Amino acid sequence: MASLVASVDHGVSSQRGRALPYAIRLANPGKHLYPPPLTELTSAEFETFLCTRPSVDRSGQLYLHVPFCETICSFCPIHKSKVPSAGVVDEYVRALVDELAALSGTPAVRRIRFDNVYFGGGTASLLPNRAFAALMELIQDRFTLDAPQCTLEGHVHSLTEEKVRLARSLGVNRISLGVQTFEPRLRGLLNLTPSEGDIRRCLDAIRRAGIDDINLDLMCNLPGQSPEVWERDLRAAVALDPSGLDLYEAVVVDGTPLAKQVASGHVTIDSNPAPQVATYLVGEAILTDAGFEQRNLFVWNRPGIENRLVGTQGALRDGTVDVVGAGLSAYSVIDGHPFLAEPNRQRYVRRVRSGRFAARWHHECTKRERMERFMIMSLEEFTFSPAAFACAFGRGMEDIFHDQLRSFHRRGLIERRGADYVLTRLGRAWATTMAVEFFGASVLEEMLRERVRGAVQVGLTREEAIDLPIFALFHPAELLGSAHRFGVLVDYVRFLWRTDRTWPVTVLRELRRAVARAGLPALRWYANTIARHVLAWLAWRTRSPRADAGEEVV
Ligand SMILES: C[S@@+](CC[C@H](N)C(=O)[O-])C[C@H]1O[C@@H](n2cnc3c(N)ncnc32)[C@H](O)[C@@H]1O
Ligand code: SF4
Repeated sequence: MASLVASVDHGVSSQRGRALPYAIRLANPGKHLYPPPLTELTSAEFETFLCTRPSVDRSGQLYLHVPFCETICSFCPIHKSKVPSAGVVDEYVRALVDELAALSGTPAVRRIRFDNVYFGGGTASLLPNRAFAALMELIQDRFTLDAPQCTLEGHVHSLTEEKVRLARSLGVNRISLGVQTFEPRLRGLLNLTPSEGDIRRCLDAIRRAGIDDINLDLMCNLPGQSPEVWERDLRAAVALDPSGLDLYEAVVVDGTPLAKQVASGHVTIDSNPAPQVATYLVGEAILTDAGFEQRNLFVWNRPGIENRLVGTQGALRDGTVDVVGAGLSAYSVIDGHPFLAEPNRQRYVRRVRSGRFAARWHHECTKRERMERFMIMSLEEFTFSPAAFACAFGRGMEDIFHDQLRSFHRRGLIERRGADYVLTRLGRAWATTMAVEFFGASVLEEMLRERVRGAVQVGLTREEAIDLPIFALFHPAELLGSAHRFGVLVDYVRFLWRTDRTWPVTVLRELRRAVARAGLPALRWYANTIARHVLAWLAWRTRSPRADAGEEVV
């Protein structure tokens, strides 16, 4: 079969002199976690929220986090540990049971009909049979279930035929399995222990046990993963005939073994966005050709396969669904408010077993932030619908996000289709970076401040660490107009300097590479955007020095 890699037109092509929409490409900047829950709350405050806030019946997803893995993949930033003794697992499961029981008794959770239950992790298939059965029985007894899609996330070694049979008898009807890559050398580098043969045998066992809805995760832009390897990975995955494929672009997150390997120079990552864009487009081309339907930026399914996770994403954007998370570091969104649970296992167990809720951080969203989240989540589904926006907020999308929409349009990232704005092929390839244009000044400020305090639970990627100060400059009105906010930015830059003396050199090197790759047009966008904002700020100062800019307008 002819290789697609060579024939893919990068669209933004790496040729010198052609404008890249952005100089740096961000793989996945906090798409669901916008705005990130960074404000501490007490268990009593969370309980009050659950007892008082929500009023109407809604549908929901129940997520359970199982934070144990047999082996630790070098890229993985998820909260987990290598599977500990049976006693520690039992203690964790007892805490999970207590937490679920407490959550199920609250008015907010009682009014939710759960049509989606997700056992994730970590490696949920590592749960001992008895623990798994106890959790399922509790969920069936205490929660209102609405013919749920029930997914078990697992790992090749623990997804035995016997385990899947048990899971199926308890109500599981979908399995999700991380493959990442089939390339033996890369698998070794990333500490992925099963072989391609093990993966194939695992899929056979799952099917023999009676579950056909099998989702595989693949990763691209891994260190040293050439476009040819990526193409082979995709074709090998398609040959296994899964019902769905999730394609994730590798992000190197602080604190992971991979980040350490990158920092020590043992592994190198290519920051050139052009091959990353090509990778994205190769994925689209191969999976479309193989008959898969693209459900969102990352998710592909066979026609006719329902994927309720994608449905939940869309409904979260429209504010019509709740996500209730249980377990350490679990993320919840209830009545539009994001919450994050205690990430440390011992503290989580102590907290829950002493009768407190696990939620530790939250974010009280302003209307402006809900609008920003709406736009960020719309990107994931390729369409901005002004009608849906007006319905959700009673405001015109074009009034609120005029600058972004106009600039996307000018750069060929979106086009008008009927009443909607739809991402072009170029836009789809850059959507994760476009998301940052909607980050509000106050959220950026909070992220920078918490980062300096060391309180951010999810590590930032290398690109984000470098790019955040640049994106912060997107809001010069707030930054320059407030000594406090400007001070936060300065603190952040000093923090970067303290933690990594090489970062100014890294920034300059990346800029030089961007110019060498694509010529000055690559940087024109940054310069234009900043200049436009400064001019707007100056105009605003002249007109009304006292009026408040930005979010408070809404
Ligand atoms: C929540 S993880 C758990 C998956 C499950 N334990 C397994 O390994 O099969 C889900 C997926 O996130 C993706 N993932 C994990 N770390 C990532 C990273 N640093 N960058 C991009 N994707 C990542 C992987 O594809 C992984 O399979
Ligand atoms: S990718 Fe899955 S198996 Fe690997 S460390 Fe992360 S959660 Fe564990």
